[in-house]
Amino acid sequence: MAHAWNPEDYHKHSSTQQAWAHELIGKLDLSGDERVLDLGCGEGKVTAEIAACLPSGSVLGLDLSAGMIAFARERLPSERYPNLRFAEGDMLDLPFDREFDLVFSNAALHWVSDHRRVFAGIVRALRPGGRVLLQMGGRGNAAPVFAVADEMLAEEQWGRYFSGSAPQYAFYGPEEERKRLEEAGLTPVRVELIGKDMTFDLPDGLMGWIRTTWHLYLDRLPEEARPAFIAEVASRYVARHPSPDGRIRVPMVRLEVEAVSDTG
Ligand SMILES: C[S@@+](CC[C@H](N)C(=O)[O-])C[C@H]1O[C@@H](n2cnc3c(N)ncnc32)[C@H](O)[C@@H]1O
Repeated sequence: MAHAWNPEDYHKHSSTQQAWAHELIGKLDLSGDERVLDLGCGEGKVTAEIAACLPSGSVLGLDLSAGMIAFARERLPSERYPNLRFAEGDMLDLPFDREFDLVFSNAALHWVSDHRRVFAGIVRALRPGGRVLLQMGGRGNAAPVFAVADEMLAEEQWGRYFSGSAPQYAFYGPEEERKRLEEAGLTPVRVELIGKDMTFDLPDGLMGWIRTTWHLYLDRLPEEARPAFIAEVASRYVARHPSPDGRIRVPMVRLEVEAVSDTG
């Protein structure tokens, strides 16, 4: 399902995701001539960083959100960046056949629950011996903030929009993810949970993160109720975790997956 991503707002409030992606790109160990697929590329800045490492290769950024892709194409046009392309598409239905040496993804796979299906598409998209490096929200990600939100859902003011069920992101653990990789024909090299704190300025940074990425919650609310929901989650979380310096810490947990394709 496509959510209402706001590319401009995400662009301004995603410096942490960008820093994580930068670190992940460092682990790609690129030779410079690879063909890379970036799944859930968002507004394109991370894809552009990969392109800059590929003087004789190329990267395709794929995203379900038409708005994200339009923003990426406008800011990073192929006339100026000939080794960088963007396409609208669903990572659940990858149409590629042995076209890529490497599949990369940052902060996107937790939006999709059926990872087995994504991995099957990745296997088809990779050339023999192709590699995979993915990082996403993992089991326990931002748990204390979601706990605050889920507690609010038990209250009539908010609960009536959620019919008693809290939204679930696909925050998985390594054991289950390894199994899915193997079933799809990928050999896991490293599958691990990594703790990474996110630190926000108060109040704008914390609210900016919620506003730009909490679509599973925000989509259930009428538009006019969203600002109050965001402010309430932020203020309850801050009240419980007092900040001495105008900044607040959120404990994030990322699931990092490195694998190779068995075929070939
Ligand atoms: C938090 S953003 C991450 C963007 C970028 N990778 C980054 O690191 O900044 C998650 C992106 O995943 C995309 N996404 C969610 N479900 C998807 C799907 N089924 N297929 C392709 N993209 C998807 C969203 O549209 C969104 O742009």
